[in-house]
Amino acid sequence: LAWKCFWVKHILIANRGEIACRVMRTAKKMGVKSVAVYSEADRNSMHVAMADEAFCIGPAPSQQSYLAMEKIIQVARVSAAQAVHPGYGFLSENTEFAELCKQEGIIFIGPPSSAIRDMGIKSTSKAIMSAAGVPVVEGYHGEDQSDECLKDHAKRIGYPVMIKAVRGGGGKGMRIAHSEKEFLDQLESARREAKKSFNDDAMLIEKFVDNPRHVEVQVFGDQHGNAVHLFERDCSVQRRHQKIIEEAPGPGINSEVRKRLGEAAVKAAKAVNYVGAGTVEFIMDSRHNFYFMEMNTRLQVEHPVTEMITGTDLVEWQLRVAAGEKLPLMQEEILLRGHAFEARIYAEDPNNNFMPGAGPLLHLSTPPPDSFTRIETGVRQGDEVSVHYDPMIAKLVVWAEDRQAALRKLRYSLHRYNIVGLSTNIDFLLSLSGHPQFEAGNVHTNFIPQHHDELFPTKKATPPEVMCQAALGLILKEKMQTDAFRDQSDDKFSPFASSTGRRINICYTRKLSLLDGENVVDIAVSYNQGGSYNMQIQDKTFLISGEIVNEDDTVYLRSSVNGTVCKSRLVILDNTIYLFFPEGSAQVGLPVPKYLSAVSSVGMQSGAVAPMTGTVEKHTIRAPKAGVIKKVNFQEGAQANRHAPLVEFVDEEAESK
Ligand SMILES: *[C@@H]1O[C@H](CO)[C@@H](O)[C@H](O)[C@H]1NC(C)=O
Repeated sequence: LAWKCFWVKHILIANRGEIACRVMRTAKKMGVKSVAVYSEADRNSMHVAMADEAFCIGPAPSQQSYLAMEKIIQVARVSAAQAVHPGYGFLSENTEFAELCKQEGIIFIGPPSSAIRDMGIKSTSKAIMSAAGVPVVEGYHGEDQSDECLKDHAKRIGYPVMIKAVRGGGGKGMRIAHSEKEFLDQLESARREAKKSFNDDAMLIEKFVDNPRHVEVQVFGDQHGNAVHLFERDCSVQRRHQKIIEEAPGPGINSEVRKRLGEAAVKAAKAVNYVGAGTVEFIMDSRHNFYFMEMNTRLQVEHPVTEMITGTDLVEWQLRVAAGEKLPLMQEEILLRGHAFEARIYAEDPNNNFMPGAGPLLHLSTPPPDSFTRIETGVRQGDEVSVHYDPMIAKLVVWAEDRQAALRKLRYSLHRYNIVGLSTNIDFLLSLSGHPQFEAGNVHTNFIPQHHDELFPTKKATPPEVMCQAALGLILKEKMQTDAFRDQSDDKFSPFASSTGRRINICYTRKLSLLDGENVVDIAVSYNQGGSYNMQIQDKTFLISGEIVNEDDTVYLRSSVNGTVCKSRLVILDNTIYLFFPEGSAQVGLPVPKYLSAVSSVGMQSGAVAPMTGTVEKHTIRAPKAGVIKKVNFQEGAQANRHAPLVEFVDEEAESK
C-alpha cells in the first residue's frame, strides 16, 4: 500500500507514557510529525524526548494537564496539528473533547462523538445491540415483583438464571436457579436473605454466566461504511477488575465460535456507524456462549496482541481511516497467524493487595526486543514511575507459532525483565503464567481468587542455598573492587578486614550478617584454597564456588552450591543484593548501616520508614513495641521518598529510663 497523498502531516498526541511513544513510532514510520504535550512531572520523560515538538501544559495532576482540554486544543492550534490522537484513558472517550476538536477543525482520531456517547451509557448500548441482533445478557429489572412475573421472565431469559437482590452486594440475597422446578424455592430463599440483610426484598433476574471469560473483539470501521473485525482477545485474567495478561486468539475457542464472535462484533460496530478502532467486549460462559457487555471506543491497551496475530499496525490504520482512506484490508484479507501474549508489568506490590507503587527505576534491563518480542514502554533506567499516573511500567508482548511456544517465550522474556528500585509484579506474572491451569488455557475472570493459594504461597524463608549465592555475589563483587583498588586501598576498606578475619589470602573466616526480609541470617564464610568457600548457616554447611561474568552488558553470577550449578543475574544496589532466577527473584538485604537506623529510633526493619517512594494514604503500620508517637512526619496525600521515616517513635522502655 503506497502512502501517497495523505495530507495529515502533523499530529498531536494527547497522552503520555507508553501509548504516546507507541503512536509516535508509527507516526515516524509514516513521516508524520508528532507533537507531544506533557505535565511538569513528565518534563524529562521518554515521550517528550521522542516527539518532534513538545509543549508543557501544566502541573502534574492530570486534571490540570492531560485532562485540560482547552490547553491541549491551544497547543494544537499553536503547533498547527491537523489531528489529535487521544491514546487510551484520559480524553480518549470524552464526547466533549471530540466535539471541541471538531469545532476547531481538528480531526479527532476516534469514532464520531455520537458513538462515544451511546456506548458510554450501559442501558443505551445494550438496547442498541439488542435491537441489532447482537446477543446481550438478558435480564429483568422491572417493578412487578409478583412470583408469576419473575418466573415468566426467568423462562424468557432461559435457565440457568441468577436471582439477585436489587440492593444486593457481597453475594447476599443472590441465588442461582438451574431450572423452572427450583425457581420458586430459590426466589423465596433469596428474598428472605435480602429482607434480613437489606430490609428490601426486591429482586432482579439475569442470565447466569458460569465461569465467565472476558473475550473482546477488535473492530475497525472507516468513513465509507466498511467495518471488519480482527479476531478476539482473551483478557480474563484480572486483578481488581484490571487486566494483567491478555492473549490472542482466545484459548480453546474453535473457528466456528470465532466466526460468530467476529460477526457479532461487526454487527455491533455497524449498529453505531463506527469509525476507527474499537473493541466489543463479551462475557463468555464455559460452553462458549457469549453476550455483549460493552464497547470501548478507542485503541485498547492490549491492541498489540491483535497486531501480532494479524501482522497489522493498528495505529497506522487509525491514521489512514482518520484521513478518509478506506480500510487497508477487507475481511477476507485479514488472516490469523500464531499466538500472542501481553503481560502488563506494573509498579505494584502483589503481596499487598496489588498496592500501586512509584519510585525510581534504579536498574532496568529488558529482554532484547526483536520482531516477535515487543517492549512497549514509556520509561528508561533512571526514570521515575510517578505517583500521579497509572503505575504501568511496560507491556511485554510476544508472538510464536502456537500458544505453547508463545507462553514459553513469555516466561523466558519475563525472566529477563529485571527491575530494581520499586516493587513490581514480575514474579507474580511468572507464577501466573506458570500455573498449570493457565498453561492449559483454563482462564476465567475468577482465576486469581480461585488459585489464590498457589499464586500467593506464604512467604517462606529464603533457602540457605540462595543466601549462600547472595553472599558469594557480595564477596566476589567486593573482591573485584578491592582488586581494582588494591594499591590505593587501605586495609580497613577490605572486605576481609573484619574483626574476626585475618587479612591474608591463605585461610580466613568471616562472619556476614545478611537480611532475609526482617530476619538476620548469619553466614560463617571460610575461604578454601583453589577459590571455593565453605559457608555455614546454622547447622548447614555448603561448599560453594563461582564467578561473576559479564555478558552483553549484563552481570551474572555463576555458582555451584554443593554441586548444583546455577546462573542468575546479579544486581547490588540500594543496600540490597538482587538475584534474578528463571522462576523468580530473591532480595537479600545488606546489614542496615548505623546512620540509617539512627534516623528513627525504630529503625528500618520495623516498617516505620516508607518501604517505597509513594503518596501516603491510609495504611496500617504495626508498632514493634509499646511506645509513644512523637510526631507524624507525613500527612495523608503527601509524598514520601523510599526509606523516609514516617513517624517519630519513642520506645516506652527507653522513655521510662
Ligand atoms: C555440602 O557438601 C559438603 C561437602 O561435601 C557436606 O559436608 C555438606 O553436608 C553438604 N551440605 C548439604 C546441606 O548437603
